[in-house]
Amino acid sequence: MNGASGAAVGELLAIGQQRLGRAGIENARREARLLLAAAMARPWGDLVGEERQPVAADAAVRFDGFVARRAAREPVSRILGHREFWSLDFGLSAATLDPRADSEALIEAVLEAVPSRDASLSILDLGCGSGCLLLALLTEFPQARGIGIDLAPLAAATAGANAEHNRLERRARFQIGDWDSGLTGRFDIIVSNPPYIPTSRIATLEPEVARYDPLLALDGGADGLDAHRQLAQLLPRRLADGGIAVIEHGDEQGPAAQSIYEAAGLVLRKWHADLGGHRRCLVMASDGDKKTVGKGRGTV
Ligand SMILES: C[S@@+](CC[C@H](N)C(=O)[O-])C[C@H]1O[C@@H](n2cnc3c(N)ncnc32)[C@H](O)[C@@H]1O
Repeated sequence: MNGASGAAVGELLAIGQQRLGRAGIENARREARLLLAAAMARPWGDLVGEERQPVAADAAVRFDGFVARRAAREPVSRILGHREFWSLDFGLSAATLDPRADSEALIEAVLEAVPSRDASLSILDLGCGSGCLLLALLTEFPQARGIGIDLAPLAAATAGANAEHNRLERRARFQIGDWDSGLTGRFDIIVSNPPYIPTSRIATLEPEVARYDPLLALDGGADGLDAHRQLAQLLPRRLADGGIAVIEHGDEQGPAAQSIYEAAGLVLRKWHADLGGHRRCLVMASDGDKKTVGKGRGTV
């Protein structure tokens, strides 16, 4: 493919599909269509049944570049620069994890734990990446405010841009930090999807993850539990009276993570599963009393 002007949609799709198929991409036709639509700045559905439509030379060149990147196993979301999470649109950058649908389990767990959508919650998102967890929660709790923190300056900046993009900037603040360093106050809800992949496993992950998600977002140390150990130390001083911490963990890490938080004095409220039915996050509280979350005890 050389981006020659005059090529038709069907022709470029066939070439793109073939190239992606050779690179081992499963849904090569669908992805080629997504990339061509983006290259032409058209909605995906517009191209259906439009096989004979000519493609402008500049769009064909863009498509060629997109296909080359996808053939090198860069995810479509990174090529297009954004990803949907909890029906919101999030811009991505080199420092942000590509948000996973499984992490929507954390949002569901909070919704289940907090009876009132009008609660004036204070929310802390530790390791915010794109800001997807905090911003999704702010759309569900219109009176809530929150802070997201990330060690990666570019991730904090991307999250801030996502807050503006989703018109939530008045209730969300994003800052650079090593977990809660430089932070004061306590929070009704703390969410975190920390890095939890054991270091030696990272190279074995699919290339879309191992090559394109930032190492800082993946690497959980030798046993994958380093970040959980760090979070367990800080949660007791950051949780408001009656507050809960909802923490994502890796497959089969649940019992080990639970022990770490319990050793730090926290109490398990429940497990929450992801869409695949796997235990995905722990809901931990600072004490065993089932106080109502969100009585405005936290501060932002
Ligand atoms: C698995 S990603 C999660 C990102 C986002 N919350 C999500 O669910 O898509 C973990 C995030 O933690 C951040 N991180 C790693 N170590 C950190 C630390 N010591 N302090 C603050 N953030 C950290 C990474 O930069 C990354 O953005």
